[in-house]
Amino acid sequence: MPLSYDAPERIFTLSTERTTYQMRVDEHGYLLHLYYGARTSANTSYLITYADRSGMCGCPHDVADRTYSLDVLPQEYPFQGEGDMRSPLLMVRGDDGTFGCDLRYKSHELRDGKYGLPGLPAVYDEGQQDAAQSLSITLADERLGLEVELLYGLMPAYDVITRAAVIKNVGTGRITVEKAQTACLDFVTGDFDVITFDGRHAMERRLSRHAVGNGSFSVGSRRGMSSNQYNPVMVLCDGDATETSGRAWSMSFVYSGSFLAEVERDQFEQTRMQMGLASDLFSYPLEPGEQIVAPEVIMTYSAAGLERISHNLHRCIRERVCRGPWRDSPRPVLINSWEACYFDFTGDRLVELAKKAADLGLDMLVMDDGWFGARSDDHRGLGDWVPNMAKLGGTVADLARRVNECGLGFGIWVEPEMVNEDSDLFREHPDWALAIPGKDPVLGRDQLVLDLSRADVRDNLFEQLSAVLDQGGIEYVKWDYNRSIVDVYSRVATDQGKVLYDYMLGLYDLLERVRTRYPDLLIEGCSAGGGRFDAGMLYYTPQIWTSDNTDARNRLEIQYGTSFGYPCSAVGAHVSACPNEITGRTVPLGARGTVAMAGGAFGYELDLMDLPDRACEIIRTQVKTYRDIEHLVREGLFYRLSDPRADDVAAWEFVSEDGSEALVCAVVTRVDGYAKANYVVPRGLTPGATYRMVSNGTEFSADALMDMGLPLTVPNSPYENFMYRLERVD
Ligand code: GLA
Repeated sequence: MPLSYDAPERIFTLSTERTTYQMRVDEHGYLLHLYYGARTSANTSYLITYADRSGMCGCPHDVADRTYSLDVLPQEYPFQGEGDMRSPLLMVRGDDGTFGCDLRYKSHELRDGKYGLPGLPAVYDEGQQDAAQSLSITLADERLGLEVELLYGLMPAYDVITRAAVIKNVGTGRITVEKAQTACLDFVTGDFDVITFDGRHAMERRLSRHAVGNGSFSVGSRRGMSSNQYNPVMVLCDGDATETSGRAWSMSFVYSGSFLAEVERDQFEQTRMQMGLASDLFSYPLEPGEQIVAPEVIMTYSAAGLERISHNLHRCIRERVCRGPWRDSPRPVLINSWEACYFDFTGDRLVELAKKAADLGLDMLVMDDGWFGARSDDHRGLGDWVPNMAKLGGTVADLARRVNECGLGFGIWVEPEMVNEDSDLFREHPDWALAIPGKDPVLGRDQLVLDLSRADVRDNLFEQLSAVLDQGGIEYVKWDYNRSIVDVYSRVATDQGKVLYDYMLGLYDLLERVRTRYPDLLIEGCSAGGGRFDAGMLYYTPQIWTSDNTDARNRLEIQYGTSFGYPCSAVGAHVSACPNEITGRTVPLGARGTVAMAGGAFGYELDLMDLPDRACEIIRTQVKTYRDIEHLVREGLFYRLSDPRADDVAAWEFVSEDGSEALVCAVVTRVDGYAKANYVVPRGLTPGATYRMVSNGTEFSADALMDMGLPLTVPNSPYENFMYRLERVD
């Protein structure tokens, strides 16, 4: 049984195809974590040791046993108040202002199907074929009237276990939640590395890896968005783990707001990894009868290195987080107007661009920023989602029709959560922006953030967006979000410590309303490029603009880091002009195409009008190639064949799930005098099989390829690039 409860031993066992997770209610009612590793049916309670380490506090009063301390024991939901002095998941204050609680087992329930989280994104199941199961364990503190319902979701075929926690006030006094994280993994032994994905605007999700030392290491965001700076994915692995060897555990937060991910190695060289809501700018009072949900964390374990962590996350997010008709469909190849013309366009210019795009074989024109209100630059107009008919030469529907007549679909850019002070919306409703009374608000790109915790603000935005979308002809929306929240003050909040969390509930509500009313609409997430690239957004938007940085050299690194936690189907990647507007670098068009084609949401973002004929030919070929390989990029297993930060060649590979097709891609990033030959070693081919190179019919042994590799021609210049399609000869 994937999910079972051993009543005499009070042990819960959750097993997926390759993994097992185990925990136990001990004789004092505490829920102890036992094991998360390779699949087993054994009782792993023997892993816990007890000893009198005198001098240490942490023994609950009724236990009165010096060998028993919560400061040492591995726990499922550590809380502040009964002696565990490590970083807790939960910290609360009672009505009298005192800290501390004591959570003990109360009840549990096992059921078929994956739990959902009303109002929050979460992994879902698709009926019996998934054989998903859920476990709910309630812990209670009678004195406070506090209950925490721990939710576990089991997705056996995905090797994924999800967690969430519902914190409830079932008493008579107020309880304030000062820290609410979702999940931790306590390890009683092990020497680990921690991997996080850090960066900045235009350089997101760069892998960084450190040995875990004593003390704590954390990344997170207090920006009200998951952020360009730190991504809510964390991996813990053996110090010597590689792509294909060693143990690795990962946590991925299904949430798009402020978060905290932490690793702590304690006095006994035990390690705690945890993830959840940020506790900065958060203090959430619960009146009797109220509750707050600590959003979902997706966990997976691999005994075979980092690659399997990625494969598990890719499949789970692509198939059971992303939703809607676009989940499994080829995405349109776009021409986006932003880097083509910025604010400087008219309806006529876009129609010209559309004609040219159609000639090159593209699918859809996206009208980026600048089509509404007084939005002639980025100082004004946000909040007024009224088309500028003078600029467009008619309504949005008129323009969509003209673009459709060129043979292209039509999409638009919006940034609904924001307002400029110079806008009609702000002049009419200055109190709708998050701003602290008496304090000048901090500006970001000259804009303020609207208070999405307010239903009236959301209603207004929904009406404004619907008025545009109802005109018809809009098949795609790029949903942008371009600044952090600094001034945390809502005029309607009963407590300002609730605002950042309630904002996210509001955003999810608005996105869900748009999705429900326009079920066929393709929404692409965006946040100053990749500032909200998280599993939470992917529940609403199956693709996300990965970074404002479209320089192919930098993109190799950005997309490499992104690939650890996210499927390629989600990666928005466009070919732009050179020299690149952010880095000043020139990369040949061929390599720019090869790099952008590693995204399942491919397109172009440059002025197509003055391109030389040769460039047009290359683009036509790229678009054709993309259509041939798109299914592999979107659904294939992804292999990182090199580390683009360290190696002379950036190489990656897609293999169809059944192994019948593969695509090996490489871009040379360094060439020295009389360069050496580079070899790329593919993985994931069917052992013993023969593969044929589609371009020239050459046949290869899969075993030899996966042993010695495939030679690339000796490069004469950097950015020589390769796309080798291999088909299994059956
Ligand atoms: C953000 C996005 C860009 C573009 C601009 C428009 O920076 O990331 O792609 O849409 O906004 O203002």
